[in-house]
Amino acid sequence: MDINTTIKLNNGVKMPVFGLGTYKAAPNEVGNAILWALKAGYRHIDTAAIYGNEKEIGDAIKKSGLKRENIFITTKLWNDDQDDPEKALNESLRKLQTNYVDLYMMHWPVEETRIKAWKVMEKLYKEGKCRSIGVSNFLIRHLKELLKTAEVVPVVNQVEFSPFLFLKELLDFCNEKGTVLEAYSPLTRGQKLNDPKLVEIAEKYKKTPAQLLIRWVLQHNMIVIPKSVHKKRIEENADIFDFEISSDDMKKMNSFNENFRTCWDPQNIP
Ligand SMILES: NC(=O)c1ccc[n+]([C@@H]2O[C@H](COP(=O)([O-])OP(=O)(O)OC[C@H]3O[C@@H](n4cnc5c(N)ncnc54)[C@H](OP(=O)(O)O)[C@@H]3O)[C@@H](O)[C@H]2O)c1
Repeated sequence: MDINTTIKLNNGVKMPVFGLGTYKAAPNEVGNAILWALKAGYRHIDTAAIYGNEKEIGDAIKKSGLKRENIFITTKLWNDDQDDPEKALNESLRKLQTNYVDLYMMHWPVEETRIKAWKVMEKLYKEGKCRSIGVSNFLIRHLKELLKTAEVVPVVNQVEFSPFLFLKELLDFCNEKGTVLEAYSPLTRGQKLNDPKLVEIAEKYKKTPAQLLIRWVLQHNMIVIPKSVHKKRIEENADIFDFEISSDDMKKMNSFNENFRTCWDPQNIP
């Protein structure tokens, strides 16, 4: 496994397993972050309409000189736009300055609109405006409901995931259905980086706690998108392909689970 490693999604599209998160990467700082990341070898960028930085990400990708087809771009349909996903995607494409995204994701399973919105996303997928479609913040019950009527099985479900929030049942369910699970907030937004249990294992591998958390996700055959706007951290977070966590230490880390969340809890959505 290296920074170019991809996973084959259920529609055959190859998605890099490692990418850059951009939530809270402000318009005036995200451009440099993208350029540093691309220089360090990242080829996968995760954004969303609600992050308000698609335009600057589009600018930076252009500036990098890399070919569009060599960068995997994910963006997301925001909740208020679920009534008109086509308009929302067109707007994202305009800001990103591209005529397709690699992955278009429903950001949240909004109770009243999620099923209808998925139908429109299926149409957009068939038209080629997105090379694949996925969901985010879907629990097992949301996926079961969607799969009853879906013609296209979501390629990915992006959820909060870390050793401190080890969603084993969801992971098994997604694997069974052919939906790859993708971890957001894999660094617990920094909140658990000083946890002594984590620090102890990280020291053993001569890696930082952040690097250990990212590697742990990848060893669960998942996708991971740590966010940083600092050059040193962007490079640090990518320097995770020269070591392997032993199965004993993976088990130890799995046992850190304490349902710790940094983000909203989708349990609250019926
Ligand atoms: N689908 C969803 O609903 C959803 C929700 C949340 C997030 N996401 C996606 O997932 C991405 C990642 O999640 P996240 O941004 O919530 O949290 P995260 O990646 O767990 O943590 C980001 C935070 O950790 C800091 N950080 C980064 N690398 C570090 C390092 N090596 N050492 C110490 N601190 C470090 C960053 O600060 P600096 O930037 O200042 O370095 C930032 O404050 C997001 O950016 C977004 O793309 C999706």
